[in-house]
Amino acid sequence: MSTDAAEVPASPYERIGGSATLHRITERFYDLMDQDPAYRALRDMHAADLAPMRESLPNFLAGWAGGPRQWFEANPGKCMMSMHKPFPITRETAGQWADAMTRAIADVAPDDREIADGLADVLSRMARGMAQD
Ligand code: HEM
Repeated sequence: MSTDAAEVPASPYERIGGSATLHRITERFYDLMDQDPAYRALRDMHAADLAPMRESLPNFLAGWAGGPRQWFEANPGKCMMSMHKPFPITRETAGQWADAMTRAIADVAPDDREIADGLADVLSRMARGMAQD
């Protein structure tokens, strides 16, 4: 039996389309958050300048999905769920996050539908798990 690299299952990071796709999803996500009044409450929780988030989120998602771990190396021991505890996240704003992310992923439409749907589902569940009410 050979141990060809080709036989190693692709990581979610590779299947979704790597850094380029994660950047496109992130850009669409923050554009929606910034422009669609449906996400006003969520937008108001964030700093005026979303540029740091546009840089940070794709880096987090990359490491989290099995790709380059730059965000985790820069933030040793930082847990995404605990990091959000200080923010007054409600079911409403968590729902806005989940909805905007689901739309962003659908709009970017990665070729691999199974991993795209899986990503939208698990991120939505993480976001809803951050609600404190
Ligand atoms: C799966 C769900 C989520 C992920 C992956 C995520 C990801 C992130 C990341 C990567 C950061 C920047 C942290 C850093 O690099 O130090 C951040 C910050 C932040 N997140 Fe989230 N987030 C999620 C859900 C939410 C939800 C549901 C809310 C609010 C309803 C929220 C509100 C915020 C706020 C207010 C900040 C600080 C941003 C600022 O100061 O402008 N996040 N999040």
